[in-house]
Amino acid sequence: MDWEPLIAAATAARANSYSPYSHFPVGAALLMEDGTIVAGTNVENTIPALAVCAERTAMVAAVASGRRRPVAVAVVTDASPPARPCGLCRQMLAEFADDLPVLACNLQGDREEVRLSDLLPQRFKLDW
Ligand code: THU
Repeated sequence: MDWEPLIAAATAARANSYSPYSHFPVGAALLMEDGTIVAGTNVENTIPALAVCAERTAMVAAVASGRRRPVAVAVVTDASPPARPCGLCRQMLAEFADDLPVLACNLQGDREEVRLSDLLPQRFKLDW
């Protein structure tokens, strides 16, 4: 797995973060099954509940572009240790991938690989 293109895409997306309230820009990049990289960043709002995380803006953009199968995700923050996806984002990703590697990265170059199935062992699922 070559993480570098994903890290670069997540870092570039992070530069576009709209986070005037938290001052915590986040970038995420998904590698899709077809090899495409789809990036996202967090977008906040004066109504705090309307903030959307980077991982979810990336997943929404992927679906909007006709791609529903992420196979890896990189997340870039300035946190130490590198921040993992929040609970909402774990559930969002688990809707589209039973499991995938998650690379949590920071600007100092720390990289920690975890699996979505370890971050969210028992996702909420309805059998319709
Ligand atoms: N945030 C993300 O973009 N991804 C996460 O997994 C956790 C948090 C954003 C949301 C908010 O804009 C800021 O980080 C602070 O919580």
